[in-house]
Amino acid sequence: MKNIFKLVLTGAIALTMTLGLVHAQGQVSPEEQEYVYRDSLFRVISYKASRLPAAKAAGDQAAFQEAAAEIAYLSEMITDGFQIQDNIPENSLALPSIWEDFEDFGEKAMVLRDAAQALADSGDMDDYDPRQFGGTNCGGCHRDYKQRAN
Ligand code: HEC
Repeated sequence: MKNIFKLVLTGAIALTMTLGLVHAQGQVSPEEQEYVYRDSLFRVISYKASRLPAAKAAGDQAAFQEAAAEIAYLSEMITDGFQIQDNIPENSLALPSIWEDFEDFGEKAMVLRDAAQALADSGDMDDYDPRQFGGTNCGGCHRDYKQRAN
């Protein structure tokens, strides 16, 4: 008798927890999900971009080419994070200009993709300058489309 009571109680607790979880997930709006997606993507891209000077300093050409290829691949996913028109939720640094000229925004993502792909193909570490790479390919988009943090 005691065991059955325990079983029913455990079942009730598990059900409550499951419903709570479903409820919590349901509260994340599509706008917020899209923002979390692109913020995460940019952080991954940023980390991979930091691997380029690290690989160059270590003289590790294979690692350099791999990171560059990954940046190229990830760059193709940037516009996926901006499909909802004017989606600028709390904490987002996106500017409305993105949706005013979405074609140009997409082209800037391709500028980064092509620059990264060129490094992946050539593996030319001597020619690679981190400040120039970031200034042109990351900054070139941020200048027009991202608010300055602080
Ligand atoms: C096509 C445009 C574009 C390109 C190219 C681009 N970014 Fe961004 N990036 C953005 C936008 C827009 C945001 C703001 C997104 C938001 O907060 O909703 C952002 C946000 C970020 C963030 C998170 C917010 C912050 O400021 O800390 C990081 C980190 C970042 N980008 C790094 C990079 C790096 C590094 C590169 C180049 C390797 C790069 N981005 C290339 C448009 C771009």
